[in-house]
Amino acid sequence: MERPSNRSYSLRGNRMTRAQTLAMASNWDEYAITVDSSLKINEIFTDKSKTILEIGSGMGEATAQIAQNNPDTGYVAVEMHKPGLAALLLLIVENKISNIKMIREDATYLLANFIPDASLDGIHLLFPDPWPKNRQHKRRIVQDEFVELIAKKLKPKAFIHIATDWQPYAQWIKIRFDNNSNFTGGIVPRPTWRVLSKFEGQGLKKGHIVTDFRYEKI
Ligand SMILES: C[S@@+](CC[C@H](N)C(=O)[O-])C[C@H]1O[C@@H](n2cnc3c(N)ncnc32)[C@H](O)[C@@H]1O
Repeated sequence: MERPSNRSYSLRGNRMTRAQTLAMASNWDEYAITVDSSLKINEIFTDKSKTILEIGSGMGEATAQIAQNNPDTGYVAVEMHKPGLAALLLLIVENKISNIKMIREDATYLLANFIPDASLDGIHLLFPDPWPKNRQHKRRIVQDEFVELIAKKLKPKAFIHIATDWQPYAQWIKIRFDNNSNFTGGIVPRPTWRVLSKFEGQGLKKGHIVTDFRYEKI
């Protein structure tokens, strides 16, 4: 599969702070995963019982916190936004977090080409870009094909957790998972592990209602 022509992320520029630039130069190679055909995602963390793919880690503050709170799990953060990855890298270095690795790639492309089938214990998709206008809906990462793709990549009984603060996107997500017979699940209460990110905080301040979904691969 080629990289999707309908990008689900926006190109926001690559300007970084001095500390981020320094961290990228000094520490990126230690924490980044090079994507090639030999990638065995479930073998990255040999000492962890589970591997979770975090799609769109943003500025990484929630990812870092979740990983610190769950030291038995390995997290692979996939994000396109370089300053966001650099911000997460800084958090990893400052807090000596050993259960996060990072990939700079389009998550759909990564899943389709480099993640072995039935290899993931879970996927976090926290606040995917909502693409609210009708003409932008094709850019939403959750599409029928995406749901089918992750069904292949998750182990049996593995899960995807999705959170969104955009109600029309929540309806859109529900329809697409309800239409796919590989999954069971639906709307769940906010789980205790899901810490507040800056992005979520901004939505809450605007009065947005957050919906959490958990679907399990049958
Ligand atoms: C709205 S932000 C939310 C970030 C973070 N999860 C949070 O809760 O604060 C969505 C992020 O997903 C990333 N993203 C969107 N589509 C992506 C894709 N196909 N592959 C990797 N990252 C993607 C964007 O670059 C953006 O940083």
